[in-house]
Formats: sequence, structure tokens, C-alpha cells
Amino acid sequence: MLKPKPSIDTIQPYQGGKPIEEVQREFGITDIIKLASNENPLGPSPLAVEAIAESATQVHLYPDGNAYYLKRDLAQHIGISEEHLILGNGSNDVLQLIAEAYVAPEDEVIYAVGAFVVYSVVTKLCSATAVVVPVQNDTHDLAAMAAAITDKTKVIFVANPNNPTGTMVTADETAAFMEQVPNDVLVVFDEAYYEYVSRSDYPQTLPYVLEGRNFVITRTFSKIYGLAGLRVGYGIAPPALVETLNRIRQPFNCSLIGQAAARAALKDTDHVVKSQEHNNIGKAFLYNAFDDLGLRYLETEGNFIMLHVGQSGAEVADALLRKGIIVRPIAGYGYPDAVRVTIGTQQENERLITALRVVSGQLSAIS
Ligand SMILES: Cc1ncc(COP(=O)(O)O)c(C=O)c1O
Repeated sequence: MLKPKPSIDTIQPYQGGKPIEEVQREFGITDIIKLASNENPLGPSPLAVEAIAESATQVHLYPDGNAYYLKRDLAQHIGISEEHLILGNGSNDVLQLIAEAYVAPEDEVIYAVGAFVVYSVVTKLCSATAVVVPVQNDTHDLAAMAAAITDKTKVIFVANPNNPTGTMVTADETAAFMEQVPNDVLVVFDEAYYEYVSRSDYPQTLPYVLEGRNFVITRTFSKIYGLAGLRVGYGIAPPALVETLNRIRQPFNCSLIGQAAARAALKDTDHVVKSQEHNNIGKAFLYNAFDDLGLRYLETEGNFIMLHVGQSGAEVADALLRKGIIVRPIAGYGYPDAVRVTIGTQQENERLITALRVVSGQLSAIS
């Protein structure tokens, strides 16, 4: 068979959280909960569901390739102009567009150890050199990332908060970092969990875009807006950057139903607030329960928690799977003794804790 270009050979296919249906088939269990993909446990906004039903009769038509109304609503929501917005088939699409448009094989791309896996995939896709910078306290070390810049650096990816650690860089760290980044380097702040963040020292990065720096913020409707299945994400960037990305994106990369649902979800601020509150309550419950179990975790600014299980995360995930609970082992991110759990409904969280108590007892008895 024809070989792909060499850099593609080194890419592992993306391992998502196991779909519920697959676990049902494999283990013959019916009562399954998925805490593996950082989805919103409250589901989508009812307004979004209505919009989806209404737009269903229109799907024989191509979507508006320019997403006029969604961009208008988003621009208003964020307080920018439509020219600052690029839409994607999920924010992953925007991350890939950035790499495809700007990264050449002779370039270097900087990201952190244990950062969201897509940065590595898109760097390899472009046959570029990855410069992977160690973290400090499981957190992006922006000073070290700035120090790693060379005259070959083209793009720096920062996940804030990061997946799977849930940790964030602060406003002060970001300001110091941006002072050191030369203007011919593109900085990407991936803010997929932006709406979940509660710390007041979280950096507001919009000014970098509005100042015309080479800066892209990516955000998504997949997380707090509960529309992961519809694949709607976006980038906020200076108009000239948006114009470049628009040249290479698929003309209809944001579906008709996705656009309608995203507009409705954006209007439902109650659902967003409810989701934030729900996440905070679930987080506090899980922290307490993990403390009781003597398990170490990282404090999170997302809707998921990285949990050290003191033994193989893959084995714990597998044992939980057999009890109908899907969580994510994260050895691939450099954490072999940890799993990542999405904060679920109260009932799901309780079920996780009950199972975890049994599973961690059983496994430590065996080992
Ligand atoms: C840090 C981070 N960025 C981006 C994404 C991609 O989200 P989507 O493509 O659904 O917008 C995710 C999804 O898990 C994520 O965790």
C-alpha cells in the first residue's frame, strides 16, 4: 500500500471516550454512564433542542457557509466584530486550520507536556518539529515556553484551562509571556472550558486579539453549551488572520443544524449559569469524596478532574467500565497512574464514588 508522508506514520489515532453503545455491546450492561469526554451532564439547552427540531426540515439545503447570523450573535455576545470570527466543525477544526495555514515543515511548534493531544496531531500533520515543554506543578510553564522560542518557532499552543489536568495559567503569567513573544510568532489560547473557569486571576485574552497581535482564541459549543454532537467551535482572531483561515476551510464546515442550535444555546444564559453552578457543586462533592478515599486530584477549572488512583489508571478505568462507568485513562498524556473523570450529575457522581471505593479496594488487594 502507498505509504503516507513520514510524519503521519507517527500519529496515533485519537482515542475518544468509549461510546455508551460500544460498552453496552461489549459488556452486555445497560445502565451505563459516560464520564469520559467532558460533555455537559445537563444536556443541551431546551432552546437549542427546539431550534434543532425546527431546522430539521431545512437540511436538504446547504448551510450558510459564512454563518452570517451565528457570527452576528457571537460577535455581539463577545463584544467584537464579525470579522474577528472564524467558525469550525468543532474548535478542533480551527486548531487544524491554524496549523495548515501557518506551519511549514521547517517550522517549530511549541506546546506543553501533557497538553491537549490535538496540538501534537496537527504539528505532525504539517511535518513540523514539535517542541514539547515540561510543565511545573502539572501546569503550563509559560516562562519555559517563552524560553523555548527560536527563530524557527511559528505557533505556540496554550490550553487554558488544560485538558486533562484542568490547571490554568494566570493573567500575570500570560502578560509576562506575551511581552516575550516576538510578533512573528502566532500564539493560540485554546479556551474550550472558558465558561467553566471560576478563578479571578484567569487571563482575559481578548485584548491581544484587538491589539492586532498574532493571537487566536479558540472556544467551543461542545462543552458548557452541551452541543458536542453538533460540532460547532470558533476562533477569535485579528481580521487578517481570519481572512487567511477562511481561504482554506471547507466551505460548509459548520452545519445548518449546528448553526441554529448554537444561536439558541447562546441566548439561553440561564442554562449556562445552571451548568456553571451544577459543575461547582459536583466539583465540591467529588473533591470531598476523593479526600475521603485518600485519592489525590488536581484542582480543576474545567468540568473534569484528573484523579491519581495510586495504581494503573488503565486498570482502574477498565474495572470501572465493567461496572458501567466510562472514564478516561490518560497514560498517553504522561499520567499512567491517573484517570480523568468528567463531573457528572449528582447521581452519576455518587455512582462513580461508590464504584471507585470498590474498585480501588479490589485492585490494591490484588497488587
Ligand atoms: C482543551 C480542548 N480543546 C479543544 C477541544 C475540542 O473541542 P471541540 O472540537 O469539540 O470544540 C477539547 C475537547 O475535548 C479540549 O479539551
